[in-house]
Amino acid sequence: MRTAMRTQVGIVGAGPAGLVLAHLLQRRGIESVVLENRSRDYVEKRVRAGVLEYGTVQLLTETGVGDRLRREGLVHTGVELRFDGQGHRIPFDELTGGRSITVYGQQEVVKDLIRARLEAGAPLLFGVADVSLHGVDSPTPSIRFRADGQDQELQCDVIAGCDGFHGVSRDSVPAGVLTGYERAYPFAWLGILAKAPPSSEELIYTYHERGFALHSMRSPQVTRLYLQCDPDDELAAWPDERIWDELHARLATRDGFTLTEGPVLEKGITGMRSVVLEPMQYGRLFLAGDAAHIVPATGAKGLNLAVADVWVLARGLAEFYRTGSAAELDRYSATCLRRIWRGQHFSWWMTSMLHRFRGDDEFGHRLQLSQLAYVTSSRAAATTLAENYVGLPLG
Ligand code: FAD
Ligand code: PHB
Repeated sequence: MRTAMRTQVGIVGAGPAGLVLAHLLQRRGIESVVLENRSRDYVEKRVRAGVLEYGTVQLLTETGVGDRLRREGLVHTGVELRFDGQGHRIPFDELTGGRSITVYGQQEVVKDLIRARLEAGAPLLFGVADVSLHGVDSPTPSIRFRADGQDQELQCDVIAGCDGFHGVSRDSVPAGVLTGYERAYPFAWLGILAKAPPSSEELIYTYHERGFALHSMRSPQVTRLYLQCDPDDELAAWPDERIWDELHARLATRDGFTLTEGPVLEKGITGMRSVVLEPMQYGRLFLAGDAAHIVPATGAKGLNLAVADVWVLARGLAEFYRTGSAAELDRYSATCLRRIWRGQHFSWWMTSMLHRFRGDDEFGHRLQLSQLAYVTSSRAAATTLAENYVGLPLG
């Protein structure tokens, strides 16, 4: 026996895409149920992104989930590009009419949204199993799953597939409907979280002969650091001492930059890939966030693109329920893809400029140095980086 439930929008996945969508719909009086296969504890502790675009911060603040973000988030008005042993600052505020980014962990955004949803008494189910989508090309799609040892069915008007890159939503679209565009990179990132005060007030993106390195942070007590590594590397090959040695070597400057070390709290390796699936809609199923596209982390765009997708989706759903017209919803994929391809280009460009390519020749290396010198000396080139980094306006 299957227990049946009904809602307007069924949301698969409680990552940033699913949770922001549920929040925006709730504010517009549209019912939704969020189904997440992991536990609350797991999603709240998953360390990932850290950079929020200007528009993402505005959206979270204006919709009432930005209090802690405003209190604890670190507002940055620039970043440093470091190469050839020297740092060069890109001043975002000066180049973009006063815009900035905010450093605030993705899991903190997730925690704030989960709390807001549960406080509102709105449905959010953790630890559900065997999620499958049915009738997505009909006006009455449904989601089947198992929760509390019971088979259940959620009947919906619309399903939002917000279940990330390894989710099940995308597989509910028949073969041949989606076209995938992809680029793989011959490197990965080894990321650590260290209990050490940041060694610089701002993020430092470093290009070095030994490979890329990034200095970021989470709080005045916690530093987030990344190193370019081999995609086949195992964590066992990277004891803490090797990581710190490599970070010191890559981040070194001619004027004696010092990197503060501390106990390593977390360690992980992330692959670098660019993927876009088009279109992002099939019948009553809408894909959003990493379920439809992923970017290499160099541009800090993944979470922000996920938020932008669901902002467009919420607007389309609001029109659908208010007027019965699906016109805005039918434009969802095309509207999102314009921003996604801009984010893809920016992420690819940052990645290509800042990483060492295996077997790279001197020619490629010199091209990268020339590009870095240009970006850090031409106001026009620096503005291109700055306006993409802080994020183009939503809409
Ligand atoms: P996810 O966060 O992956 O959420 C999907 C959710 O669906 C998960 O909770 C998952 O458990 C759940 N799920 C999966 N399958 C099922 C199923 N079958 N049923 C139910 N639920 C399911 N982006 C930035 O913008 N800035 C950054 O600085 C940045 N840095 C990053 C650094 C690293 C190391 C990594 C790995 C990523 C980074 N990103 C960054 C990317 C960013 O984390 C992702 O783009 C973002 O998480 C996408 O959100 P999402 O909600 O689409 O997907
Ligand atoms: C992070 O702080 O985790 C971070 C910052 C910038 C990036 C990627 C990740 O480009």
